[in-house]
Amino acid sequence: MAGARASAPGKVILFGEHAVVYGEPAIAVALSLRTEVTIREGGDQHRVNGAPMTPYHHAFIKDAVEGLWKGGGPLDIRTDSRVPSASGLGSSAALSVATTACLLQMLGQFGEERCAREAYAAEVSAQKARGSPTDTSTVTHGRAVLVDREKGPGFLWDIARGERRWFLHHVEMPPLTLVIGNSMQRGRTSEEVAKVGRFVKKTGFAREVIRDLGKITREAVELIQDREKLALGVKMDEAHDLLTILGVSTPKLNDMCAAAREHAYGAKLTGSGGGGSMIALTDTPEPCAKAIAKKGGVPIVVQLGGAGVSASSL
Ligand code: MEV
Repeated sequence: MAGARASAPGKVILFGEHAVVYGEPAIAVALSLRTEVTIREGGDQHRVNGAPMTPYHHAFIKDAVEGLWKGGGPLDIRTDSRVPSASGLGSSAALSVATTACLLQMLGQFGEERCAREAYAAEVSAQKARGSPTDTSTVTHGRAVLVDREKGPGFLWDIARGERRWFLHHVEMPPLTLVIGNSMQRGRTSEEVAKVGRFVKKTGFAREVIRDLGKITREAVELIQDREKLALGVKMDEAHDLLTILGVSTPKLNDMCAAAREHAYGAKLTGSGGGGSMIALTDTPEPCAKAIAKKGGVPIVVQLGGAGVSASSL
């Protein structure tokens, strides 16, 4: 009986969350925390970790299975994730990508670009067509990814949804130390993206904030290459303030960022917000992590630029 195993990393968005949905650039990095998925054919119905697969509990897995395993027999799907869920660290993308990679491997069709496209299609379906392909492409490619509105050096692939087209690029990331602080308050990407969508639709002011976030990301891309940590920290603080204006920060994330800044170049929320996580750029991770913990966050000192998705047959 056919089967496959796949592993995909979590991610952090360094700059550009939310604005990327509207065509502004973003830069995201894979983490060393990973999600493993194993799929075997067999059983009486599709099961996830022993329980029948349901749209409510297994939205991302179900949409990947329905997209790729049309007319195939029942599957026994096992998941094991070190990426905390609803934390802004790409747990849904890692699950979609690892599931997609397993299915493509079983179909003899596994490849990075195909996996990124199919996993995004599954996410669009699970999240009701709201987001960008930033998370799924970063988790697929690994290392660091720049999302932009046109093709540039390091081009990987482009992905469109409706009128919008995103161009994904590989970028080299210098070794930077980040401390992630998980607020342990659940952030729901599709809700936060929908909330920003309503704001952007209603006011020119919100559209201006989105453009300002885009400008910060473009400046940050240069600063990252030049390892200008002081200036990068300032950009992180500015990005956090703009995301707060968009309504996606929380009092706890603000407190954690403020505390982390005492030991960091800068700090901002990462991912969709509404809970989830913040990141701080620092050369002194230990006191920074302690400051985050004092505010009730769970700190993780991370290595950036983890490998992308991998898949093998059982
Ligand atoms: C979530 O990790 C990133 C957002 O920009 C949504 C998206 O790009 O799909 C908030």
